[in-house]
Amino acid sequence: MPRSRRKFDIDEFVRECLEAWEADGADAVKDVLDRTLGRGCAPVRECFGDPREAHLQVLYPGPELVIENMVWAPGMSYPAHNHNTPVMTGVYAGLEVNDFYHPSPLIGGRLQRTETVDIGEGDAVLMGYDAIHRIANPNRRSFTGAFHIYMGDYLHSSRSIWYPDEASETPASFALTKDIFAAANRDLAAARATAAEPEQRRRRSAAGLTAVTVSASGAGAGNAAKPAATAKATKAAPSSGASTASASSATAAAPRRAAKARTATQKAAGAHLHPPGDQG
Ligand SMILES: [Fe+2]
Repeated sequence: MPRSRRKFDIDEFVRECLEAWEADGADAVKDVLDRTLGRGCAPVRECFGDPREAHLQVLYPGPELVIENMVWAPGMSYPAHNHNTPVMTGVYAGLEVNDFYHPSPLIGGRLQRTETVDIGEGDAVLMGYDAIHRIANPNRRSFTGAFHIYMGDYLHSSRSIWYPDEASETPASFALTKDIFAAANRDLAAARATAAEPEQRRRRSAAGLTAVTVSASGAGAGNAAKPAATAKATKAAPSSGASTASASSATAAAPRRAAKARTATQKAAGAHLHPPGDQG
């Protein structure tokens, strides 16, 4: 099997990280991360599957290391925060843009950005104990997926997040992180709804003008239950799903409607387009 097609296994990855940490600390853990991504990101993506929304998945909760799978929604950003522990990021899908800040807010109590680092697919970056960073997925159409590995009991440590802006330091909490992810997923749902509107309008419009076949023979001679077969009339299909049921079904259920359809056929012997909503 080619190396790039070797399957990614979460338990094996966690075990390798823990063994590396035990043996030689953060640099050894980063070697594991580099080696995993170096085999190719596709097996990792296949393991986690296609994301539908932003989420944070704890692969190992500590206390030695905390290993997380972070999935950032298209266009999502996560506010500036610290960790009070070394941390590494390894991206297996998309791009993470990391804004880094000076650890001491020197001017007006507001964080001062020092540099921006793009972490692309297959790349890993080790950050120091006092790093403060803001994370963004700049891509408006695709998700970013990344491993975040914290050297220590990160989930139970005291940390800060600058929220809602870079002048507002507040204690970080899992509840606030959940709120931020929930807001990102609401934005994602709204963006999907907006993107779907033109298509829905097109479908409604098409449904309002699409002719459906009405069986004249099935409606005729007092034999409304017979299936459609020969001569045909057409009528407009209304836009609602309930009223776009096939005309032959309507015939079976409502002989009077079928009789009207037959009348239409007899009058015109051809296609008729009725206004949307006209059931007759
Ligand atoms: Fe972070």
